[in-house]
Amino acid sequence: MVAAVRVHKTGGPEVLTYEDVDIPAPGQGQVKIKQHACGINFIDTYFRDGLYPSPTGMPFIAGNESAGEVIEVGAGVTEVKVGDRVAFVGPLGGYAAERVIPAARAVKLPDNISYEQAAGMMLKGQTAQYLLNRTYKVGKGTTVLMHAAAGGVGLILCQWANHLGATVIGTVGSKDKAELAKANGCHHTILYRDENFVERVKEITGGKLCDVVYDGIGNDTFPASLDCLHPLGYFVSFGSASGPIKAFDINLLQFKGSLFATRPTLNHYAAKREDLLDISADLFKVVGSGAVKIPVNQKYALKDARKAHEDLESRGTTGSSILIP
Ligand SMILES: NC(=O)c1ccc[n+]([C@@H]2O[C@H](COP(=O)([O-])OP(=O)(O)OC[C@H]3O[C@@H](n4cnc5c(N)ncnc54)[C@H](OP(=O)(O)O)[C@@H]3O)[C@@H](O)[C@H]2O)c1
Repeated sequence: MVAAVRVHKTGGPEVLTYEDVDIPAPGQGQVKIKQHACGINFIDTYFRDGLYPSPTGMPFIAGNESAGEVIEVGAGVTEVKVGDRVAFVGPLGGYAAERVIPAARAVKLPDNISYEQAAGMMLKGQTAQYLLNRTYKVGKGTTVLMHAAAGGVGLILCQWANHLGATVIGTVGSKDKAELAKANGCHHTILYRDENFVERVKEITGGKLCDVVYDGIGNDTFPASLDCLHPLGYFVSFGSASGPIKAFDINLLQFKGSLFATRPTLNHYAAKREDLLDISADLFKVVGSGAVKIPVNQKYALKDARKAHEDLESRGTTGSSILIP
């Protein structure tokens, strides 16, 4: 038996239950991991409260991102071996001292990436990678608006967009978060709880508006985010921290300037192993070179997962949060 955090019925942070569970031996194509650090992500709250149904039924072990050491391999595994340091994203099972995952989802960690860094970046950093390089190709001269710029994905994406040569505008919930976002690649910050962010984007860009808006907030920033884009701009809705965007009339995209809109998720961008490895290699490169730092700003013991969710959902965190089993 090992320690884990399970959800028996969907609900608030109080449904996260710290208990002992049996972890089975790895089957065909699977590996067992002794976990050293587990990432906390907003998506964990969607599974916990039922916005996303658990693909494994109930009860399930929460969490979608972790890093650790391979301690056992099942039949037919060629990707990794016992003793390898690895990190991976989903599917569920993350908040636990050990877990079994498909070997095809494990990524070997370079020596210069710690377990804690890896747990703070595999989901958020791979997301930043595909959002900036594939969903919309950001480069020199691009103007980007990133909502929740001081958050987990936010701090990574802002540093990376800046590194690629973009002008980065970030919305944040407080003055402290504005300082942090500025220290992490944001050229301009907007206090979107107090200021009209559309008006501020117009001011900052001299009326030219943005090429792309990365919006992980959802309900509260829609449809205003569309007004931050020039004609033919890209609206990238990649999350729902304030609740999902409700159904809307697609003609809105025409009226707002023949805009493009997409709702991407890492699962699809990294579905093939070769893409998973390419995305990870690019992430390891920018982190290894120091161009992008992974701010692991909150660390909790595994048994305190409930507190970690309370902090995340009350907008009390910055950068990445991890659990230590
Ligand atoms: N599609 C994908 O592939 C993918 C992958 C990873 C993450 N995501 C999405 O990316 C977003 C950020 O994820 P994260 O894990 O890095 O979280 P996070 O940004 O660290 O935390 C969420 C932030 O959203 C802001 N926020 C605004 N309204 C909020 C509300 N009503 N409740 C809670 N927070 C609110 C807060 O920042 P302020 O105080 O500054 O407003 C809060 O700190 C989430 O929507 C997540 O689902 C998507």
